[in-house]
Amino acid sequence: MTKQASGVQSVTIGNLESAFAGESMAHIKYRYFAKLAREAGAEDVAQAFEATAEQEVMHAFGHLDLLYPKSRLTPANMLGIAIEGETYEYTEMYPKFRHLAVAEGNHAAAAEYDEQIAESKEHAENFKRMLDIAAKRFAALAKVEQRHAKHYQSVLNALNAAM
Ligand SMILES: [Fe+2]
Ligand SMILES: [Fe+2]
Repeated sequence: MTKQASGVQSVTIGNLESAFAGESMAHIKYRYFAKLAREAGAEDVAQAFEATAEQEVMHAFGHLDLLYPKSRLTPANMLGIAIEGETYEYTEMYPKFRHLAVAEGNHAAAAEYDEQIAESKEHAENFKRMLDIAAKRFAALAKVEQRHAKHYQSVLNALNAAM
């Protein structure tokens, strides 16, 4: 889940976020319907849902291209965005939903939220580990680059001295 940017934002960005949410929901819903249609023996209906679900992914990607332009994304900041979303889910969204479900006496929903809290936390932790590894790899690469630069400089200095 993407946390909506707080504060003032353009109407079009807000609409892109809503459209992205709608297409994403259609994708998952059609996959769910396909599963149930297949269980009911309606293979043709299942396949129609699956084919349409695939197109909804492309529609959602179209919105994402505008919301998260490729030129601004790196593996590290994509992990950052994902960590923020998962953390929002398990620290704010699901705890609040859980509280309200208990208040309404919907214990099935409260139990389901508990599972989602655990899963979102695990996802955030996995992404954090991945980000640490990526940061270390980047630091190691920077060191190698530095060594190469030093080497080139000493070769250049030797050449200049010989001239
Ligand atoms: Fe669509
Ligand atoms: Fe998640």
